[in-house]
Amino acid sequence: MCGIVGYVGRAEAAPILLEGLRRLEYRGYDSAGVATLEEGCVSVRKEVGRIDDLKKAIGSHPIGGTTGISHTRWATHGKVTRENAHPHFDRSGKLALVHNGVIENYASLRAQLEEEGHIFQSQTDTEVLAHLVGRAFDRSSERTQGALVAAVRDALRQVTGTYGIGVVHAEFPGLIIGARRGSPLVLGIGKGEHFLASDVSAIVSHTRDVVYLNDYEIAAITEDGFTLSTVEGLGADYNVTTVDMTDEDVGKGDYTHFMLKEIHEQVRSVTDAMRGRLSHEEATAKLGGLNMTNAELRSVERIVLTGCGTALHAAMVGEYLIEHLAQVPTECEFASEFRYRNLPMTKDTLVFVMSQSGETADTLAALRESKRKGHRTLGICNNVASTIARESDGGVYMHAGPEIGVAATKSFTSQVTVLALIALLLGRIRNLSSAAGSRIISEMETLPDLIAKVLAKEEEIAAVARRYAQAKVMLFMGRQLNYPVALEGALKLKEISYIAASGYPSAELKHGVIALVNAETPSVFIAPDDAVFHKNLSNIEEVKARGGPVIAIGTEGKGGELSLICDDVILIPQAPEILTPILTSIVLQIFAYHIAVELGCDVDKPRNLAKSVTVE
Ligand code: G6P
Repeated sequence: MCGIVGYVGRAEAAPILLEGLRRLEYRGYDSAGVATLEEGCVSVRKEVGRIDDLKKAIGSHPIGGTTGISHTRWATHGKVTRENAHPHFDRSGKLALVHNGVIENYASLRAQLEEEGHIFQSQTDTEVLAHLVGRAFDRSSERTQGALVAAVRDALRQVTGTYGIGVVHAEFPGLIIGARRGSPLVLGIGKGEHFLASDVSAIVSHTRDVVYLNDYEIAAITEDGFTLSTVEGLGADYNVTTVDMTDEDVGKGDYTHFMLKEIHEQVRSVTDAMRGRLSHEEATAKLGGLNMTNAELRSVERIVLTGCGTALHAAMVGEYLIEHLAQVPTECEFASEFRYRNLPMTKDTLVFVMSQSGETADTLAALRESKRKGHRTLGICNNVASTIARESDGGVYMHAGPEIGVAATKSFTSQVTVLALIALLLGRIRNLSSAAGSRIISEMETLPDLIAKVLAKEEEIAAVARRYAQAKVMLFMGRQLNYPVALEGALKLKEISYIAASGYPSAELKHGVIALVNAETPSVFIAPDDAVFHKNLSNIEEVKARGGPVIAIGTEGKGGELSLICDDVILIPQAPEILTPILTSIVLQIFAYHIAVELGCDVDKPRNLAKSVTVE
């Protein structure tokens, strides 16, 4: 979603800002812009389209200066046009502002400003904020840095909604002001230079020493230092964090796409999700970050798992795992629905919010609502510096490393792995025997090898994918633990190839979906060797009887039965039932990837999508 990069120092700002924006491309955007301060003026360039288009515009009309702010926009208020792209100006034209988030009361503020004679160039909520800051500054009796900070403070007190902002003013050529509420903002500390960014990956090639801003904090940043204060006008403390992310982590290496790189990282990411968390001695999982004693965990009567998109699909696998291993009633809920629903939750309900980025607005809202109601709320996140990670009562980090591809891959398998650990722990403090616990641990330890075997089949899977790339509609079917994988397989395909795809429990076929079956509509059946294998076989027969092509994902050793009736069969290695969702989902990631490549789609930057959705 929208991204912010700011630079103040001694180097030319524009190339640094463009490079930072390029690193935020993965978040999804539709237009971009840069403003720098030079010779007492603000120079601005904006373009609809890619960062490359903006770079070309700057190439033909260069902008100088060593202070600047920049932005990638993902449209919410106002169409995708150059006028609506950020930065936006105040009435004087001397103040430029970039903004992530949504100003909810912008319409009434705009009406009031228009009455005063303010003229707006765009349809955005952001431009209103720029005018508010400019008006407050122009009304103040001083033209000092302190007065500009006070003007930002004054404007922010008038708005409701969410913001991460960067502000520059022509009269202060070495100053950027940043502030946040609800949208992440990080300050990067360099030597003789400082950075502002909505995501640390934008600045990690320059510095790894950062300060994460808290809600309602305002930073005034110069080349030599920075000061922090609050919107209320108080001083603010800060901690400098050294980020555990390298330039290499946020690069593609030798891979053609981030998505492919991240698919291939899953041997390591799943290993890292388990590292140090399996205890052979006690035949259980050790998850200290939950911040709960075994007695507290034993008194949990009900679990609610919530998240969005892929995270919710992982949660749905978790529901099966927790109920299967621990017999604790578990329910999954879209984070966007959770806060508006009146879910009956007893006082011993434990809530897990699941989010790779830890910044998804709906998931964050669900976390806050759950806490407001007094429930213990834990996070399963990848981004350790995220708002969800900070605001939850405890949780489990995924340790998957940065995920840049918009289509989530390794985060799904890491989330499922973490949920399996939680299920094991909850089971062991209830009825699960130590023998069963030990067996599960030994099985989980085979996961990295099993994943490597699936990844080794990439070419075989790609060949099948290419055969079906021209399909207009595709159906995904699975049962039990592999039903959420059907949903996830369909989601991956539609996200990156734009083929209409839906997932269903296999037996639901008869209740409507079967009407879609014909010779042009392939069905993907996830049918590993599990308790419902023969039930899946019957459902495959139903599709074949109606002339529908079938691609089956089965298990080595059971391939013969599938080959007899299916058009194509992809086999995962033999694996315990509870691990099959991880392996079958990787097959479907590779399948979707190669279809999208065959169709010439922009795999890492699918249309209309954002990696981290920071608006509700
Ligand atoms: C967006 C992404 C999805 C992701 C979802 C939840 O829609 O495009 O890939 O699954 O957000 O993201 P989160 O960071 O909360 O896991």
